[in-house]
Amino acid sequence: MAEKSMERIVSLCKRRGFIFPGSDIYGGLGSTYDYGPLGVLLKNNVRNAWWKAVVQKRDDVVGLDSAILMHPRTWEASGHLQGFTDPLVDCKSCRKRFRADHLLEARSAEMKGLKEEPVDMRDVRCPACGGELTDIRQFNLMFKTFMGPVEEDANTVYLRPETAQGIFVNFNLVRESSRMKVPFGIAQVGKAFRNEITPGNFTFRTREFEQMELEYFVKPGTDEESFEGWKAFMMEFFTGLGGKADNFRYYEHPKEDLSHYSKRTVDLEYLFPWGWSELWGCANRTDFDLKRHGEFSGQDLSYLNQETGERYVPYVIEPSLGLDRATLAFLVDAYDEIDGGRTTTTESAKEEETVLRLHPSLAPIKAAILPLSKKEPLLGMAREIYGKLSDRWFVQYDQSGSVGRRYRRQDEIGTPFCVTVDFETPDDGKVTVRERDTMAQERVPIVDLEGYLAGRLGC
Ligand code: GAP
Repeated sequence: MAEKSMERIVSLCKRRGFIFPGSDIYGGLGSTYDYGPLGVLLKNNVRNAWWKAVVQKRDDVVGLDSAILMHPRTWEASGHLQGFTDPLVDCKSCRKRFRADHLLEARSAEMKGLKEEPVDMRDVRCPACGGELTDIRQFNLMFKTFMGPVEEDANTVYLRPETAQGIFVNFNLVRESSRMKVPFGIAQVGKAFRNEITPGNFTFRTREFEQMELEYFVKPGTDEESFEGWKAFMMEFFTGLGGKADNFRYYEHPKEDLSHYSKRTVDLEYLFPWGWSELWGCANRTDFDLKRHGEFSGQDLSYLNQETGERYVPYVIEPSLGLDRATLAFLVDAYDEIDGGRTTTTESAKEEETVLRLHPSLAPIKAAILPLSKKEPLLGMAREIYGKLSDRWFVQYDQSGSVGRRYRRQDEIGTPFCVTVDFETPDDGKVTVRERDTMAQERVPIVDLEGYLAGRLGC
């Protein structure tokens, strides 16, 4: 396989309608992206897989969909107003803007083995032009806007930088309405916004993104065991959906780098084409958030165990995953290029071939229906099969080009099965089903087709 290059993956995403640059006709808007027809299906499938594993299949987790705009006191209580900042420096010559901590890390890596003492920011120059950098300023990452027609400080509200706070402020309402007993979790998927100084690497770091967060409330003292369980779950989620185990690893945050609310944080990292990077963070947030919201709102957010009479503020284990980042990791992991192609029989055999080896439950299109002729009776039979299968799954009908070309088009978008309606079909009532990864072909009676595909797709 040729080495995975981000450029080629980005190009496939645009060409085949997975992900487009945002506001493209106006020249784009700083690291925003739009999901195209196939991208929206893939992203929905990732979201649904997470929701199924975290909420649907567990009787100790319930879902929530809270508002993006929250009372501004939320962000005082959570610490975001004061502390959700990144250190920013500007180049005095070329005016480029950087995160000081990223520059320090890069410089330290360069100096490794050459210099013992820690790198001083004053020794760091602009990586773009070598110019002098400004002093560090702390820059708050929250987007501000105004509620109502008057733009004044009293009306300032923020676009939420994480979905988690919507869960904490609803803790009592969810617990009481759903009669949940600790340990239990509240999950939600939704947009979050961060005015990142250095967005980049395609959809990996953007200013508008979706998070899939779980806040799992436990009795203090049981938090460490629960943490281990969720840590293992993160790896199982990705490998269970076809992720290659070698491309995932854990990273334990050193104590001195922990966020203000965290007792322990472990990231699941993925080996992206540019290197290992955070995919999914699991934090032990202790009772920090519930206590702070209790103090700031004046409401009692403690929990009473009716059976034992114990009252406590629960600890929280938080596995927090970016939906866009997860979708990107699945795309990168599934992307496969075969030099010279996999087949030697088609006219396009010598071309490079791309196969997106997505897990069947994530694949945007589950099957493609390909008649070998545009004439009756093949055409009518193919349309009928399409009509039946589309009741259940997203399937595509494609009658244009050679069948080899049509297979390739489907391989490239990750369609697990192609169903060919051929010249024997009218006589024997069977179609040829071709599997994406092995290219193995099997004749299947049309009457059994839906059940056959359901068994092989597993969804
Ligand atoms: N509530 C905890 C929290 O938000 P985080 O580590 O800042 O923790 C959690 O974010 C996850 O959200 C990350 O692991 C990543 O998958 C995703 N994420 C964070 N910032 C992002 C960004 N700018 N663009 C895309 N995804 C992002």
